[in-house]
Amino acid sequence: MEKQMVLQGLRKEQKEIPFSLLYDTKGSQIYKAITELPEYYLYRSELELLKENAVDIAKAIIPGSLFVELGCGSASKTSALLSAIQVVHGRCKYVGIDISESALNEARRNLEEFVPGLKGSAIELVHASYLNGLEEVKRRHPDEPLCIAWLGSSVSNFTNEEAAQFFKDVIEVAGSTCQLLICMDMWKKPENLYSAYNNKLGLNEQFSKNCMQTALSCIGYTVDEESLESWSYEVHINKIIKRVEMFVTFPKGLNIHKHQILISPGERVLVEFSTKYCVEDIKQIASKACCQVYRCWGDSSHYTCQMLLPGCHALVQCWKDTDILFEGILDWNCKPIDLRHPYLFYYGHVCAFTKLKIMGNEEESEMDTMFSRGMDPNVLDPSQCHSHPQVPSKWPSKEVVINYVAKRRMIILQEVTKGKVDTKLLSIVIEHERMHQETLTYMVVQDRKISFERKAPIPSIKKPLPLQNGHLTSDILMHQVPKPEILIEAGNVNLGVNPWDLTTFTWDNEGPLFHTKVSEPFLVSARPVSIKDFLQFMFDGGYEKRSLWREEDFTFFSENGFSCPATWSLVGNEYYVHGPDSTEHWTEVSEEAVFVSLAEAEAFCKWTGLGCRVMTEAEYHRILDYDRHGKKVLNIRGDGWEWTSTEFRPFPGFIAMPEYIEYSTDFFDGKHYVLKGWSDVTDKSMRRDSFRNFYQQQYRYVFSKFRCCRSLL
Ligand SMILES: C[S@@+](CC[C@H](N)C(=O)[O-])C[C@H]1O[C@@H](n2cnc3c(N)ncnc32)[C@H](O)[C@@H]1O
Repeated sequence: MEKQMVLQGLRKEQKEIPFSLLYDTKGSQIYKAITELPEYYLYRSELELLKENAVDIAKAIIPGSLFVELGCGSASKTSALLSAIQVVHGRCKYVGIDISESALNEARRNLEEFVPGLKGSAIELVHASYLNGLEEVKRRHPDEPLCIAWLGSSVSNFTNEEAAQFFKDVIEVAGSTCQLLICMDMWKKPENLYSAYNNKLGLNEQFSKNCMQTALSCIGYTVDEESLESWSYEVHINKIIKRVEMFVTFPKGLNIHKHQILISPGERVLVEFSTKYCVEDIKQIASKACCQVYRCWGDSSHYTCQMLLPGCHALVQCWKDTDILFEGILDWNCKPIDLRHPYLFYYGHVCAFTKLKIMGNEEESEMDTMFSRGMDPNVLDPSQCHSHPQVPSKWPSKEVVINYVAKRRMIILQEVTKGKVDTKLLSIVIEHERMHQETLTYMVVQDRKISFERKAPIPSIKKPLPLQNGHLTSDILMHQVPKPEILIEAGNVNLGVNPWDLTTFTWDNEGPLFHTKVSEPFLVSARPVSIKDFLQFMFDGGYEKRSLWREEDFTFFSENGFSCPATWSLVGNEYYVHGPDSTEHWTEVSEEAVFVSLAEAEAFCKWTGLGCRVMTEAEYHRILDYDRHGKKVLNIRGDGWEWTSTEFRPFPGFIAMPEYIEYSTDFFDGKHYVLKGWSDVTDKSMRRDSFRNFYQQQYRYVFSKFRCCRSLL
């Protein structure tokens, strides 16, 4: 087999040899020495990336997955990741596949030494080529989900077409539920690339010459020392196809009569190439392999680790999560939020939306139309709403909707499995469904609140005192609300992203990159306003003081009798707080961020009397720039969406996405405001700094927090 490959390569016009011959025992030793050289940034960059993101990567891996590493070599970089998997998932099982037996032996020693608890049968090593090894793994573990890691930018030995085909082959063997974790070296300055592949000690040269020697011995040609000395090594940076090419040149030529191979004097043979990637290349490879770039870690101008999911896997996983949510809903006809449809609509809607987007050319059934679009009426005047299909006088039964969804899912899956669906469209339908999962979760919270209140005694007073088990809590009365104390300087800030800079999907409103500035320094409080802080506002009559509110908001809240956040219940004269997972007496969660509407947040800020306000979207990004890891301005990203006072508007140069024109444009209406970050129930694949959520100012149900902010001047 190898002999045939060598002969074929040496008969091509540009002679080449198979790169798999690089890693015989001697080659593996030289490679190890190369990884220790200062010029060879690849090894260190990947090691740092994996260490830094180990926990986050581990969290993205399906629990209970078998971790399979292709071309594991000595597995020296994998230990941080495996240790994190053990911590996150409680256990880890590893299979390393490599054609180098000596490297496999070293891999076992390394793993046993550096991953505590990974011993004996938890480590399997398969001496085979990539796909043969993977087939063996599937035979041994037919039912386990596989996380297939391919580190060391080994993919770069393939052209982009070959890489896409290889991913397809891997998925074919591993099954559509696998996850791929691929480390990739990015295109960078030619001089940096050159020195990594042509180090001063001559190790790259030895590595290539050793491979050439192995190739020739495969076809029965023994190289003597003198000829070996005469060969030279050459590195070429091919800017057109973005790869580094390594050649061995034969100054005297070489004639291998028995195979009729003639290498002319001065001719060079391609021994290895290392492709370097741009974000767009990765997207294209993933798309050709019918995959979704699900997550991405690292720096897209230097070195990255991409998690790819077969498109159908990402979709089926999303459907599973929707089903789990609906399994917990007892009455699908219930409509816990007045301005929305009953639950049942959303089960049909996420599926109808996917079908209509993915199979837009197919005929639209009555149910497709009925479920095609939800509604987001104007909170202050619900008669005003964007266009949506007519609301039927009676919704179909739960059974009919379940049946409709099952049939639709089948045809959608057929289409996706055939590789006919563009990855952007797939991302649109998946993120759309994921967002609905979050809105459904806050509907469920309202549902729980309604039944909680139904069972509880009616409060005897309208404005309760801060009680805990009937006793006044001096704690609350003495409590100080947080002052904005952290100084953020004025300065330039980048909002938005250019979609071509990211491998993962972004919505149209996230781009393009918008350079703007925060023109005045400001102060921001270190933590979001808590439940305890907000109680003070309430006990001080915050909801009754007209002067704290915009007139229309005051009218709306007082006419509807809203005198506490939407996720709270007043029961037996005490407050209970309904979170995504549980209901607690307020004292149990008093330090947690309060979830309110922007109107309530603004009234609170005014009430402080400190000249406070809610931050703008630009200020949010300025805070991120100042404190990237949230060490000083706490929970700026997670634990609830962060309200901003910025009206939801397009960035200059905005282009609506043709696949879903109305997604943003219908809401650039002067009534929606931007929220940043994410909540605990936001799917991890959507947790990105560029994401812009948007809600109306008076909308009360979102897991949305705020913090006090104040201009300095
Ligand atoms: C660049 S090294 C990377 C080693 C390790 N994954 C790392 O990141 O340090 C490539 C590894 O892939 C193995 N390899 C190359 N071609 C292979 C193939 N066709 N099948 C299995 N392993 C292969 C080599 O033996 C070598 O150990």
